[in-house]
Amino acid sequence: MPSCKSIYLIKFDRFWQKIDVKLSLKGDLMTNSRISGFYNMTLDERRAQLEDALSSPAGAQQTPGGLSAWATGGLSPEAADHMIENVIGLHSLPLGIALNFQVNGRDVLVPMAIEEPSVVAGASFMAKLARAGGGFTATTSEPLMIGQMQIINLINLYEARLKIYEHKAELLSEADTIDPVLKKFGGGARDLEVRIFEESPIGGFLVVHLIYDVRDAMGANAVNTACERLAPRVEAITGGKVHLRILSNLADRRIARARCTIPVKELEFVGADGARPYAGEEVRDGIIAAYAFAAVDNYRAATHNKGIMNGVDSVVIATGNDWRAIEAGAHAYAARSGKYTSLSTWNIGADGNLVGTLEMPMAVGIVGGATKVHPAAQAAVKLMGVITASELAQIIVSVGLAQNLAALRALATEGIQRGHMSLHARQVAIAAGASGELIEKVAAQMVVEKIVRIDRAEEILKRMNA
Ligand code: MEV
Repeated sequence: MPSCKSIYLIKFDRFWQKIDVKLSLKGDLMTNSRISGFYNMTLDERRAQLEDALSSPAGAQQTPGGLSAWATGGLSPEAADHMIENVIGLHSLPLGIALNFQVNGRDVLVPMAIEEPSVVAGASFMAKLARAGGGFTATTSEPLMIGQMQIINLINLYEARLKIYEHKAELLSEADTIDPVLKKFGGGARDLEVRIFEESPIGGFLVVHLIYDVRDAMGANAVNTACERLAPRVEAITGGKVHLRILSNLADRRIARARCTIPVKELEFVGADGARPYAGEEVRDGIIAAYAFAAVDNYRAATHNKGIMNGVDSVVIATGNDWRAIEAGAHAYAARSGKYTSLSTWNIGADGNLVGTLEMPMAVGIVGGATKVHPAAQAAVKLMGVITASELAQIIVSVGLAQNLAALRALATEGIQRGHMSLHARQVAIAAGASGELIEKVAAQMVVEKIVRIDRAEEILKRMNA
């Protein structure tokens, strides 16, 4: 039984937690993404905290339904039926909130949709360490997407290329009129480049790159439409045939960058069950050596970048964005030198602190597509308080960097299994048929035994049910 004093303290703490979240949603410098005890609350309590914050006048206006969308997953089967073909139902994922994030001096609560244990906790913990060094500093380039047109059946590639350049102004002005809404918000056609491929399985051909500013959209529709619209004119100019007309997912003109400094003292910790203390310098050097492995070896780089994408994808999915596009862009960018390598870097900075950087394409939008029609995605955008796609990209790349740090810190010290074990054990317990209180009990027993397997979970469950 908790004492009167501890009940009072819990209530007092919750009161301040509510105040903290309210402030964070106003998006000013008094915000706070640190909510102590969030982990130990019930689902209803956690939602109530955030819901309260969104029912502030500004939040209520902007977010019909507030966060209730997350209680059910947000999407009705009827709405889903309008999104894709042959719909028979819905497919859900857990939605967690990463705490402690500070991006460009602003606190932000980050929604993450992911099935893998430890990811949300890892991101939150690393955001706390980064916070001690000033949080994440993130930037984005202009939101420029690339549309590609492949021109085949040309008699002279060089002549055709110059003819296109001669008509560049005319082609750009035609492409510019294609999306009046984008135009109104400052977007539109920006540039046109012509590349020659002299040799291929079908011989030589040209590729036109149409560079299009898509503002707060992901941009695929605008860019694909523009390419299709320009094709007849390009054919008339060159005498060739425009074959493919499609955007490139290697969105290397639409880059998001984040960096953070982790004070070396923040890296010291004592291993599980007091196993042994790790000095900050040892952890820092271990993380740098782990990064060095990914920098030179593509087998390791694939896994290293997968860890980054654990963070990136979960926010991309939570906001209804196209995670396959982000994945494709990330890995193509990681191989841009001709050798696949790490997307991030980790090195020593001033005062012996650990400095991390991450740079990758980030073609995400906050208008159009699923982001607009999926109530849970809308709630995600509102909770983060982002008003431009660029701000969203800055948060996502920061989460990717935090997630990378979480993995490297664990790998460079105790290994990831210990942290993974207890959460993984819960999933195994559920798979074995445990429910309610038995989930924790079966999981705890497996962790003690260090045997996390479904057959063992079934045995323990049988014994507990007997
Ligand atoms: C697991 O989902 C991700 C890691 O493998 C990433 C890494 O190895 O850096 C832990």
